[in-house]
Amino acid sequence: MIDQILIAIDGPAGSGKSTIAKLLAKKLRINYLDTGAMYRAVAYYLKMKGYSPSEDLSEELEKLKIDYKDGDLYINGIKVGEEIRSPEVGKLASDFAKIQTVRERLTKIQRTICEKGSFVVDGRDIGTVVLPHADVKIFLTASFEERVKRRLKELQEKGIQATYEQVAQEMMQRDEQDSSRSIAPLKPAQDAFIIDTTGKTVEEVLNQICEIISRRVKCEYSGC
Ligand code: CDP
Ligand code: CDP
Repeated sequence: MIDQILIAIDGPAGSGKSTIAKLLAKKLRINYLDTGAMYRAVAYYLKMKGYSPSEDLSEELEKLKIDYKDGDLYINGIKVGEEIRSPEVGKLASDFAKIQTVRERLTKIQRTICEKGSFVVDGRDIGTVVLPHADVKIFLTASFEERVKRRLKELQEKGIQATYEQVAQEMMQRDEQDSSRSIAPLKPAQDAFIIDTTGKTVEEVLNQICEIISRRVKCEYSGC
């Protein structure tokens, strides 16, 4: 019997990582870790404190208390909420995510959290850097147009006004920055299963991932 399973889900913005990762964790009855939320929350906090990515952040990062309890993220004891979900904070997260001290701190925390049980973890560098030993690695993609449309729909549902062009520009900049940075760039791990989700429903993608898991891992998780 396997007592721990780690599943890495990476991919660009709007590829469906968090939707799929959450559903998969629920289906497998294991934990879900949203590493993007960590980058967003830390960037938001540093910005509020008046820092920019070009400054020395080591001392501030040292003091920062980051906790993950029952699926919720806390920064210095305060629960992180919807304030980190805006496109502006997404861009800010990408700006701070280029910085080595930020990545080192968050990678260490993410690894420590994952030592405590079975997790589906989503992000950009989970299969390549954070959990290179993950049992199953998935890299989700979708056409740029479809990813923009998905994000636009989500914003509209939240009552946030944005045009296709605004969302497309923000996404293009972030994709470019995340894929070209020197540390832990967005890319599939060599042993990742790449799934193009263009034109597929959430259920279809989830079923495809479940098939991969049951082929790779012979255990109770194959009930997937
Ligand atoms: O986390 P990431 O930025 O990769 O994507 P997300 O926040 O999960 O957003 C993806 C959106 O596209 C959600 O509204 C999903 O319902 C939708 N979607 C999907 O995730 N996968 C599909 N195959 C089709 C639609
Ligand atoms: O949901 P969406 O794909 O829009 O973004 P996210 O997953 O919340 O991540 C926000 C930003 O954090 C990304 O654009 C990356 O720059 C950064 N990030 C990262 O560098 N490494 C991760 N493991 C997760 C996020």
